[in-house]
Amino acid sequence: MTSDVRRTAENIWWKRGIVYQVYPRSFQDTNADGVGDLEGIRRRLDYLAWLQVDAIWISPIYPSPMKDFGYDVADYCGVDPIFGMLSDFDRLIAEAHTRGLKLILDFVPNHTSDKHPWFVESRASRDNPKRDWYIWRDPKSDGSPPNNWVSNFGGPAWTLDETTGQYYYHAFLREQPDLNWRNPAVREAMYNVLRFWLDRGVDGFRVDVIWHLIKDAAMRDNPPNLGWTVGQREIGRLLQVNSADQPEIHEVVAEMRRVLDEYDERVLIGEIYLPIERLVTYYGDDLSGAHLPFNFALIQAPWKADAIAKLVDEYERALPQGGWPNWVLGNHDQSRIATRIGEAQARVAAMLLLTLRGTPTMYYGDEIGLQNVPIPPERVQDPWEKNEPGLGLGRDPCRTPMQWTADRNAGFSDGEPWLPLGADHESCNVETLRNDPRSILTLYRRLVALRREHLALSIGDYVPGRVEDDLFRFERRYGATRLIIVLNFGHEAAAVPLPAPARILLSTILDQDGDKIEGALSLRPDEGLILSV
Ligand code: GLC
Ligand code: CA
Repeated sequence: MTSDVRRTAENIWWKRGIVYQVYPRSFQDTNADGVGDLEGIRRRLDYLAWLQVDAIWISPIYPSPMKDFGYDVADYCGVDPIFGMLSDFDRLIAEAHTRGLKLILDFVPNHTSDKHPWFVESRASRDNPKRDWYIWRDPKSDGSPPNNWVSNFGGPAWTLDETTGQYYYHAFLREQPDLNWRNPAVREAMYNVLRFWLDRGVDGFRVDVIWHLIKDAAMRDNPPNLGWTVGQREIGRLLQVNSADQPEIHEVVAEMRRVLDEYDERVLIGEIYLPIERLVTYYGDDLSGAHLPFNFALIQAPWKADAIAKLVDEYERALPQGGWPNWVLGNHDQSRIATRIGEAQARVAAMLLLTLRGTPTMYYGDEIGLQNVPIPPERVQDPWEKNEPGLGLGRDPCRTPMQWTADRNAGFSDGEPWLPLGADHESCNVETLRNDPRSILTLYRRLVALRREHLALSIGDYVPGRVEDDLFRFERRYGATRLIIVLNFGHEAAAVPLPAPARILLSTILDQDGDKIEGALSLRPDEGLILSV
């Protein structure tokens, strides 16, 4: 990196900063209906400022029938009453900005709710002016759906509309009809939605399933996935080669980006589940696309030193010139990291996330080591779990309420929470853990602070890693600063030679600050260290 590029990166908040995802239903309830709200997020801003994150991304807050908990939008320019009103939003953003926190909204352009007025019109008749805003096709001659595409939540991706005798396409629920992004009128309307929120001061968008927006023009069948077996999620039965990731998508992403570029320093983040070599195409030609195509590689890789080292190097190599990296450990669709890799390794993961080169996105609750919470069958909310029960696809376990205190309902709500709390909430909560010098919350806070203190950790160079058995070692450098990160992915003690004498800046076990090390460095089981040389 030249020093010019460095100088810019230092000043761009979304390169230097840390994003924190809030699932609004589960952050803080203030009116005892058991569901989190905007006022709740506002009341917790001091916590986020204490944690020293830079930006909050809030999952959808728009008016919605909540079939997919807000990812079925009935009005893109409003706030659902369950979350509050537009005035609550304005107050939230103003107070976030006062504390130096940026606010990122979730933009859901692939589909609307079937209750959105556009779809209500579209389905009214074949010649309605909004007909072509969605994807309508005639049945095949035998009356069956136009092609073999499957819904991401299982079952058919086409629903027959009896009144007009055509099928409409929905990549997700039947209550989430896909918009037709080949129609310029749809694009214009949606870009105006972006402007509506940008004018209100939002600092950027996380764009839902952005790689899905454009489908094959001829809507050809998807080929079978020969690796699929019965008992796996149904969407895996076919390879999604015609239903997503089409070449024309990049034109759409570049257009969205141009809308953001009408404003100062706003960020475009894309949700994209694709292999690394496909993912990086979403930076666009000459970086005209998304600033941060979400990189979910850490979620998908086996939690082993060699696998992680390999993917970090692959990703670094695949990035386009000037493309800024980013990393994610979890989100509202994935298993909690603490459950997936265990409590001890969750600390190693925290150190990895906050020391890699690239913008980290944290998922609320991970900083207190929140686990997947088992959901009794009668309390299941997630439509995916309901469609394909028993396969472990349900996302409720990772969406449970934030645990703030040891009090009733963990300080989340005065009413019955919409999803159960973790059984451990009397010990696993912010209030208890922030006073414990060895807690995972203390570790997160120290990691965040260290990342803010050392440019080497945020925007410094990444020096490719070395793996020895369970140890992954890499370096970050900036100017004269040289930091070594060594992570023990194993449950046994291990040692590595050190290239030079070093001082421990932070151990995931939080007890060895300042120790000087020469020659060999020993790590305890599940320990990660940051050292300065
Ligand atoms: C994205 C969201 C997920 C939602 C889906 C449909 O993957 O993250 O929660 O169900 O899109 O909008
Ligand atoms: Ca509420």
